[in-house]
Amino acid sequence: MSYIPIRLRTLYPNTPLFFDAYIQVGEKYLLYIRNGDDISQDRIDNLKKKRVRRLFINSEHEEKYQEFLDARLNQAMSDNEQSPNEKAEVAVSIASSGVEDMYEDPESHQVFLLLEKAAEGIVKIVGKKTDVLGLFMKRVRDSKAEPIIQHALNVASLTSCLAEYLGLPDKTVQDLSVAALLMDVGMIKLPENARETFFKKRQDIAHDEWKVFATHPEVSRDILQGKEYVNRQILELVYTHEEMISGEGFPQKLTKLSLEQGILGLCACFDRQVTFHGMTYKEALEEISINQLGNFDLKLIKKLKEALKVQSLE
Ligand SMILES: [Fe+2]
Repeated sequence: MSYIPIRLRTLYPNTPLFFDAYIQVGEKYLLYIRNGDDISQDRIDNLKKKRVRRLFINSEHEEKYQEFLDARLNQAMSDNEQSPNEKAEVAVSIASSGVEDMYEDPESHQVFLLLEKAAEGIVKIVGKKTDVLGLFMKRVRDSKAEPIIQHALNVASLTSCLAEYLGLPDKTVQDLSVAALLMDVGMIKLPENARETFFKKRQDIAHDEWKVFATHPEVSRDILQGKEYVNRQILELVYTHEEMISGEGFPQKLTKLSLEQGILGLCACFDRQVTFHGMTYKEALEEISINQLGNFDLKLIKKLKEALKVQSLE
């Protein structure tokens, strides 16, 4: 039997599992939770104390695990008993697991399926509601995940809200959410210090650093290219996520962007101010509409403001 890891964070207390879950002790895998049984909060806390972050399942039960995640997402979407805060927690736990796995193993099809599920969760739980975005972003901040992962999660939630607000088709909203989670995955192939560049303001980046940093959209695309399960729209969005209509973006210095490309670029820029530069939402909007005038479509900025207002996030 072969085993694949699942993150402890994706299990929920008092919810029966659809599969056997194992714990790894040395070279061995010991049955820890039987199919149909659940795990108590105490046991989860105990595992966390022992710094156990992963359990394992039989690789043949991978589909069952996907179904289990589906059930959790559906419950969070539909269950009116669940508070917006609980919904945000489900979305963040599944999404951060998906993105962290992707950063560790971007070539895996199984990981991509989880990431798609994560993107879908963000669309359904955050994008389609009007009271979860602020809680979601707060939970992301509190998660202490790496800033680059926090950024991916926030941008996926912002694109979902803006695209839903604009009434775009479900398929487009989903592609945007997946692209947002994937756009910077290329950073893992760049030298360690290139990640630091991410957190600097553009004017503070030295020429040599910039040359390396500016390759990341292409590297992200190259990681995903040639995989039949990644569609063209997602590849295109990943490749163009740093473009701006002023022509000041990269790598192609485009001056014309589709609506979807505009949404992703704008939301990514907005969240960079919040997640990397510690700005409030209001300051981030000001940065985009005043200091970066001409980089983004004014009508789209106005729509982003409206969408954030609907979410009581101003
Ligand atoms: Fe980027």
